[in-house]
Amino acid sequence: MKRVFLTGASSGIGRAIADALLARGDEVWGTSRNLERLPKVPQFHPVCLDLDDPNSVEEAFNAALADAGHFDVLINNAGSGQFGPTENLSEKEIATQFQILVFGQMQLMRLALRMMQARGEGLIINVTSLAGRLPVPFMAAYNAAKAAMASFTPIGAARFASSHCRSPTRRYLHRLQ
Ligand SMILES: NC(=O)c1ccc[n+]([C@@H]2O[C@H](COP(=O)([O-])OP(=O)(O)OC[C@H]3O[C@@H](n4cnc5c(N)ncnc54)[C@H](OP(=O)(O)O)[C@@H]3O)[C@@H](O)[C@H]2O)c1
Repeated sequence: MKRVFLTGASSGIGRAIADALLARGDEVWGTSRNLERLPKVPQFHPVCLDLDDPNSVEEAFNAALADAGHFDVLINNAGSGQFGPTENLSEKEIATQFQILVFGQMQLMRLALRMMQARGEGLIINVTSLAGRLPVPFMAAYNAAKAAMASFTPIGAARFASSHCRSPTRRYLHRLQ
C-alpha cells in the first residue's frame, strides 16, 4: 500500500489515476481548488490546493504530510492551458501559466524531495506533455511551460540517482499499475 500525493484529482487524468490507485489499495491525498469536486470514498483524502498561490501549495502539502506521516509518491498532474494568439498573451497570463505548470510544481517537488531524502526513498512523477516537444498552435505559454518542466525533471532524477529518490516523466506512469 502506497501513500500518494496527487494534484488535480478532481477530473480527467488525475481522477483516473486516483481511481486506479484506490482500486489497488493505495491511499491517496488528492487535490482540487474546490473540495466539492473531489470523491468522497474510503482511502481518499481531499486536499484544497491552488497552484497559482505558493502559500496554498505549502500549506496544503504540509497539512497532508502531517496527516499521512509520509508520501511514497508525488504525482504532479494538475494543470490547465491558455489558448490564443501569442501576440495577445499578456505578461500576467504567461506568468500565471508558468506559476501553475512550473513554479508551483517545482515547489511541490522540493517539499516532497526533502521528505523523501530524509526517508531514503520516494518517487516523483511529473505529468508533462508532448506539447513540450511538438508545440501546439495558439498555446505558446503552455508549450513553453511543459518544455521547462520536462527539462527540470531529469535533473532531479540525476541529482538523486545515488539514493532511491526517483523523478521520471509521464512515460513511467505504468509503473504504478
Ligand atoms: N488531456 C490531454 O490530452 C493531455 C495531454 C498531455 C498532457 N496533459 C496534462 O495532463 C494533466 C491533466 O490534464 P487533464 O486533461 O486531465 O485536465 P483536466 O481534466 O482539465 O483536469 C485538470 C486538473 O488540474 C486541476 N487544476 C487546474 N488548475 C489548477 C490550479 N491552478 N491549481 C490546482 N489545480 C488545478 C483541476 O482541479 P480543479 O479545477 O478541481 O481545481 C483538475 O483536477 C495536465 O497537466 C495536462 O497539461 C493532458
